Amino acid sequence: MSDAPSMASAGKPDDAIYQTDALIAEDIDAYLEAHQHKTMLRFITCGSVDDGKSTLIGRLLYDAKMIFEDQLAALEADSKRVGTQGQEIDFALLVDGLAAEREQGITIDVAYRFFATEKRKFIVADCPGHEQYTRNMVTGASTADLAVILIDARKGVLVQTRRHSYLCHLLGIRNIVLAVNKMDLVDYSQEVFDAIVADYDAFAKEIGIESYVAMPISGFKGDNITTLSANMPWYRGTPLVEHLETVEVNSARDIDKPLRMQVQWVNRPNLDFRGFSGLIASGSVRPGDAVRVLPSGKTSTVSRIVLFDRDLEEAVAGQSVTICLADEVDCSRGDVIAAADAPPQVSDQFEATLVWMDDEAMHVGRAYWLKLGAQTVSVTVQAPKYEINVNTMQHLAAKTLGLNAIGVAEIATDKPITFEPYAENRALGGFILIDKLSNRTVAAGMLHFSLRRAQNVHWQPTDISRDTHAAMKNQTPRVLWFTGLSGSGKSTIANEVEKRLNVMNRHTFLLDGDNVRHGLNKDLGFTEADRIENIRRVGEVAKLMTDAGLIVLTAFISPFRAERQMVREMLADGEFIEIFVDTPLEVAEARDVKGLYKKAREGKLKNFTGIDSPYEAPEMPEIRVNTVEMTVEEAAEHIIRQILPLK
Ligand code: ADX
Repeated sequence: MSDAPSMASAGKPDDAIYQTDALIAEDIDAYLEAHQHKTMLRFITCGSVDDGKSTLIGRLLYDAKMIFEDQLAALEADSKRVGTQGQEIDFALLVDGLAAEREQGITIDVAYRFFATEKRKFIVADCPGHEQYTRNMVTGASTADLAVILIDARKGVLVQTRRHSYLCHLLGIRNIVLAVNKMDLVDYSQEVFDAIVADYDAFAKEIGIESYVAMPISGFKGDNITTLSANMPWYRGTPLVEHLETVEVNSARDIDKPLRMQVQWVNRPNLDFRGFSGLIASGSVRPGDAVRVLPSGKTSTVSRIVLFDRDLEEAVAGQSVTICLADEVDCSRGDVIAAADAPPQVSDQFEATLVWMDDEAMHVGRAYWLKLGAQTVSVTVQAPKYEINVNTMQHLAAKTLGLNAIGVAEIATDKPITFEPYAENRALGGFILIDKLSNRTVAAGMLHFSLRRAQNVHWQPTDISRDTHAAMKNQTPRVLWFTGLSGSGKSTIANEVEKRLNVMNRHTFLLDGDNVRHGLNKDLGFTEADRIENIRRVGEVAKLMTDAGLIVLTAFISPFRAERQMVREMLADGEFIEIFVDTPLEVAEARDVKGLYKKAREGKLKNFTGIDSPYEAPEMPEIRVNTVEMTVEEAAEHIIRQILPLK
């Protein structure tokens, strides 16, 4: 071991000369060429350290004549000095290293390892197994072609086996290997193996896993890893590595489906060339093929397919290429180029499964960014239809989804997106949700289908435009959005501002929280979800009123930044004017005009803003009025003076 290279220094050009493969020694170019054309299998290992996961990964890396990623990079960079690490690493040391790596907090993330055999390249995602790491597993599984689900032969099918299998199935992994590990510790007993497989089989059928391959192995001893084990002559299958080397990868399976390529970027180096670059998610394409660009639906013909500086006769699923079209059709980033006669759907309302990944629970009704490949739109999520207990697969009633929860809900986007059900196409059916304020990825999701109502409701164009309405009133429509605590003075000041605007012949309308809650919103209370819905409706009404040419004043607590931001985005640039009625809680509480603070303090009124429900003050309001220093008249005057130059 002493003169064997250490893992840390592997592949550095200055290192000692390693033993090399015959091919590498003879012809590095041929080696690299062969390496480049190997298919890539992405797989995920599921199980806990106790199941022998680190040992198994160590065994694969050790037995599979691995080439590490950094080595490969060095190899490609410096073709004269090459090295592979071969068999010289001490197995026990390698496994210790992997186990230590996991314990040092890397468990929080997904560790990806690269290795290769003669036949194939591999990326293995090693995800932690506990339930609190569901989000990590989902991340690893979303790109995997295959999952190795590890079972300890002494323990059999456990709750975590079910959870891992369910998640892998949910995320579209169709190749599942049930690796019954530690067979050496059960005397290589066929009875033990058969009993575990029978147990798993019943469960797998229940959740819709159509096929899987069960293997009795010992990661520690190496049984059935690279070669069939003499200890288990009763096993008639293939060794694990051979299975990994030969199983069909997703992209191969997707070639027979209709063409789909999402445009990652438009390639226009000069006026003579305009190509659309992206990864072919499914199908194949040749010059001359009729294609359709979604969502516009425009059709054209493929004129060229370019890969770097070469033209291709054909490109297939799994390849990243640039497609040129015969016509100057509109096509930009996020659009989908598809087979003309079998295009994907376009919709703005869906049923979807969501895996919640953020510490902060889902806010029903709040607008998040939805990113599906290169398409980014605004989306709101309805209350979940149900949450799924990932251990028992039971459907539970749920008001929201917390960290690691998985549920099914309806979602609505503000613009139509081109999609396919996740089960048919991961690339066009898988998405993430991003919090608009913090920019954190809060969920991963899978589209099921488009809601039919979305297909039957169309925007109706009208002849009298919003500009006509505004011109008749000789004014520019605006929304003066007052926000602040209950009792801060929003209604009073808004009322005063409206009077002054009317004196100036402005056409206005004041929407007041207490009043709107008597009519349009009388079905809503003061839970977070209800407040979000309250503001969404008020935002929509205010928007309609600006379409009618009015200057709208709204007086709602509107406690959440995200919803104020949502209304701002619904309106044209500059139309939304946020007015923060800045009254400290002590002052509002001392005024207590409606006696509500007293009730809230006595515990007779729940979810009261400022007491047991939050108020998120604006960070950069267009206008701020301090009601401690200003009278109502002064505040109104201040607001009018600020908005007058705006006309
Ligand atoms: S918001 O949070 O959804 O924007 P909105 O402005 O419509 O609230 O309604 C606030 C008014 O409802 C308050 O001025 C108060 O009169 C009344 N109210 C009743 N219960 C509550 C509560 N729990 N929290 C805040 N306001 C309440």
